[in-house]
Amino acid sequence: MRDIPDPAPIVGVMTRAIIRSFAAVLGLVLLTACAASYEPPLPEPASADQASIERGHQLAEHFCSTCHAIGATGESRHPVAPPFRTLSRNYPVNDLAEAFAEGILVGHRDMPEFRFEPNQIDDLVNYLQSIQDHRSG
Ligand code: HEC
Repeated sequence: MRDIPDPAPIVGVMTRAIIRSFAAVLGLVLLTACAASYEPPLPEPASADQASIERGHQLAEHFCSTCHAIGATGESRHPVAPPFRTLSRNYPVNDLAEAFAEGILVGHRDMPEFRFEPNQIDDLVNYLQSIQDHRSG
């Protein structure tokens, strides 16, 4: 009985071999999975839904167009009111959401103060995003 070799070392070697090949297969599977699930990043969801942009357009038309050029082209009627498409040259348009929420805009003599509901602010910002002229940012 004592002459029978202890099977443990052999089992040990086999186990290691199995684990190694298992690891290799697993690695391969993971690699393939990663490669398969890679997708280019989606464009900003800020290109929000068209309905929101359209509502924002209405708001701008109604409340702002007497002074600002609100479209992708055209001049502001008020000589110092910046055309909306140029706003992003000075700061991220998203930051405007905060200014709008606080009731824009402090310190602009000719500009009346507006207060908007949060959903209107979203709409306005989405609209502004949609018309920004980034060419000479
Ligand atoms: C009665 C005219 C008038 C109306 C209406 C008006 N604005 Fe203005 N707005 C101005 C003027 C003038 C300035 C530039 C003030 C300055 O630079 O001193 C200005 C500046 C701004 C700026 C730039 C502020 C900055 O710090 O550069 C934003 C943004 C803006 N307006 C948004 C709006 C929005 C949004 C509306 C409509 C909800 C609106 N304005 C309606 C006259 C107006």
